[in-house]
Amino acid sequence: MARVVLGMLGLGTVGTGVVELLSKHRHLTLKKVAVKDVQKERDVKPNCPLTTDVNEIINDPEIEVLVEVMGGENPTVSYLEQAIKKRKHIVTANKEVLAKHGPRLFALAKEHGVAIFFEASVAGGVPLLSTIHKGLEANEIESVTGILNGTTNFILSKMEAGNSYASALKEAQELGFAEADPTADVDGFDVAYKLSVLAALGFGHFVKPDTIYKEGIRNITEEDMALAKEFGYRIKLLGTAARGGSNGNSGFDVRVHPTLVPLDHPLASVSGPNNGILVRGHAVGQLTLIGPGAGKLPTASAVVGDLMNLAGALKLPDFASYFQPAIDASPASAAPPDSWKCPFYLRLVVKDTPGVIGKLGTIFGAHNISISTIIQRGVEGQAATVVILTHDVLGKDMNAAIAELKKSDFLASKDEIGNAIRIFRAA
Ligand code: HSE
Repeated sequence: MARVVLGMLGLGTVGTGVVELLSKHRHLTLKKVAVKDVQKERDVKPNCPLTTDVNEIINDPEIEVLVEVMGGENPTVSYLEQAIKKRKHIVTANKEVLAKHGPRLFALAKEHGVAIFFEASVAGGVPLLSTIHKGLEANEIESVTGILNGTTNFILSKMEAGNSYASALKEAQELGFAEADPTADVDGFDVAYKLSVLAALGFGHFVKPDTIYKEGIRNITEEDMALAKEFGYRIKLLGTAARGGSNGNSGFDVRVHPTLVPLDHPLASVSGPNNGILVRGHAVGQLTLIGPGAGKLPTASAVVGDLMNLAGALKLPDFASYFQPAIDASPASAAPPDSWKCPFYLRLVVKDTPGVIGKLGTIFGAHNISISTIIQRGVEGQAATVVILTHDVLGKDMNAAIAELKKSDFLASKDEIGNAIRIFRAA
């Protein structure tokens, strides 16, 4: 295979894995790696110089491909732009940059005749993007739904085994899954970026991340996990990207929120730091992909797979346009959560006094909410926990009901209902 010269930005967890895998593929020659600190102790030393000056890579005409594994939005996006203008192909693991700047970067790449490969940006080692882009090319992609964040799946799995959120997060941090600041993972931003990338590939439009509904896992309690199990569910943080229409919406239905998944559903069995994704195409029906969604070698597997794919095709005429997905230059917006319909789980902590259940029924009835199951647990004279499962409810009706509950006189703590979590409904 022809020799291809690479430059790399970043030598953290993923970059180290890339160096390790590249040692077995000598035709992919890493010429230089840009890092913040050249002196830092690292497990793997690349067989090439390190530099703190990114320009040494961007301005090197011999480097044909820029591998970007430094992450973050700035200054990364400007490095990518400069490299594209120097006609370098890009292999990136950076979902944030793609979600926020994808339309501009892909237009720029088209203008300069280069390709952007980004398998590692979503679902780590699971070859999800190439499956959608090439394997399912004959399909109209209808929806992509799944567990797209390994850190939160690890935390939820630990909570199910009886750990508190705080101790599960601490363990995830000690094992290197979760960052010191876990916001991007636990508050849903990481999944939202991945959904934007999936929408670009599946539907031809990046979806603006700030329009995507994001609800993370911070409010999930061990009690919610245990109650969900009693009712035959497991709580997972799910991301959904669906074409409008399936749920009565116009536009794209793109959202991330905790979800009660039936125990016999394939996504319920995805545990620890794994990802699990359902892809629905109009011809193929539904596929399920499960595998490691994060970590050094799984993510490096996706990066180096892209490099090998790219290297194999580099000398073909019009190679860049063959590999470039058809993505519209204008990003789309996600449909507002008001318009989705799904069943809900509600855990309410109420005063144990006469008439509470009647008042609850009146509030739900007034907002078109039909109850499918209701239980009450508690000690007489003290607070009681009422758990309600509903039939399908419109988001706006549930929000209105919750607002009214918060104003009622029967909650044990004023303004605090307990929790409201959506129940899985196929997109
Ligand atoms: N932080 C991500 C996760 C991996 O835990 O899945 C990178 O996207």
